[in-house]
Amino acid sequence: MTKKHSIVIAGGGSTFTPGIVLMLLDNLDKFPIRSIKFYDNDEERQQQIADAAKIIIEENAPEIDFLATTDPKEAFTDIDFVMAHIRVGKYAMREKDEKIPLKYDVIGQETCGPGGIAYGMRSIGGVLEILDYMEEYSPDAWMLNYSNPAAIVAEATTRLRPDSKIINICDMPIGIEEKMAEIVGLDDRKEMDVKYFGLNHFGWWTDIRDKKGHDLMPELIAWVKEHGYVTPKELENGQEGEEASWAYTFRKAREVQWLDPNTLPNTYLKYYFYTQDEVEHSNPEHTRANEVMEHREKNVFSECNRIAELGTAADSKLEVDDHASFIVDLARAIAYNTKERMLLIVKNNGAITNFDSTAMVEVPSLVGSNGVEPLCQGEIPRFQKGLMEQQVAVEKLVVDAWEEKSYQKLWQAITMSKTVPNARVAKLILDDLIEANKEFWPELS
Ligand code: NAD
Ligand code: G6P
Ligand code: MN
Repeated sequence: MTKKHSIVIAGGGSTFTPGIVLMLLDNLDKFPIRSIKFYDNDEERQQQIADAAKIIIEENAPEIDFLATTDPKEAFTDIDFVMAHIRVGKYAMREKDEKIPLKYDVIGQETCGPGGIAYGMRSIGGVLEILDYMEEYSPDAWMLNYSNPAAIVAEATTRLRPDSKIINICDMPIGIEEKMAEIVGLDDRKEMDVKYFGLNHFGWWTDIRDKKGHDLMPELIAWVKEHGYVTPKELENGQEGEEASWAYTFRKAREVQWLDPNTLPNTYLKYYFYTQDEVEHSNPEHTRANEVMEHREKNVFSECNRIAELGTAADSKLEVDDHASFIVDLARAIAYNTKERMLLIVKNNGAITNFDSTAMVEVPSLVGSNGVEPLCQGEIPRFQKGLMEQQVAVEKLVVDAWEEKSYQKLWQAITMSKTVPNARVAKLILDDLIEANKEFWPELS
């Protein structure tokens, strides 16, 4: 009989939790489950998602045990997989990460620039804590981690817990690949094989083919240099909707692509190539954190509350998405040794031959029950190599600063970020960030 798995979702109160639960329930034939637990350190927030999840699970798979808890022992005992997506400091701190740099005309972003650095300084401790709970209570389990900023978190986990079974992941490449598939008229991103190299939120596709080996790059490049990652359908509909900032990002990708006509870029590169444009396009009083609180957070929580009040999820508006399918595919690959090819954040170790072997890079990798085997992407061009060296140094300096509680290292990290104009501005931002993050950062000296 096939083994039934036990999962804990850490950050049970996340806006992405319902999507993952629905995805797990959708795939029970391919990935049987006996138990789903939620773990969060905010009981009240998690309970709202849990009340709806309980109903959804009872209505779809009553044989699955369900539990929501804030007790680590209860949560992490008898677990096969930890699916983690915590946000230390929640949206209130994301809002500060975004707004503080903008005061100094520097980009305010969740994972890039000073905002991402501030978030990294909060996340490292939170993610290590969860990893340690897993190792204490279920030493054979795997942690599949979405918690951001993934680049800094990955550097911290590989350095501070080198033997741990953690895989750090990002959904941006697959989100873009879904759009690519649509642009070339395929039904699914899984009908493409890709080559890609870079860091998290900092990478490029170098080769994309369909399953017959037909090269899709020329068609994709021709489209993206004109329209970015806006799909033909979106172009026709003039679709912007409530996610105006994402629509802008996908359009802006065209200008990002112009920097290297032979590759296709990750959208996050816009923050490094067009820093001033991004600052000018931002509203320092109303950033992405506000947009998310007004839309995704509000929609998810009000829908969960509605399901709980009605006592049924029969007409639920909650949706599964690529974000959830990716983490479930990853769990399946480990559980069944499928050797599926996935883009993951892994230690370079020669996968990019002319790049720091200790850097955490994002490259296609094969996944099986032994973990991850990165696939060699060869040499990378000078342009990307130079940018990546600067960025990886920023990420490593942040982890140095966290480990050594060093003000100096964090000042260097912010100064070195391509998004920051000079050291004086870096220091002003740092001093504000220290004040705002007192509750979360180690005390620096
Ligand atoms: P959210 O604020 O809705 O949820 C995060 C949850 O984590 C909250 O319920 C919070 O109480 C909980 N939490 C915070 N610190 C904790 C701790 N120390 N222990 C346990 N729980 C803790 O956030 P969200 O928008 O749903 O995003 C969740 C996370 O997923 C964020 O880190 C986000 O950046 C990340 N994310 C990553 C990717 C990716 O590509 N890697 C994609 C989407 C989201
Ligand atoms: C993409 C990225 C994530 C990031 C998210 C932000 O999915 O890969 O790393 O957290 O976008 O989205 P949001 O809607 O919260 O701004
Ligand atoms: Mn990401």
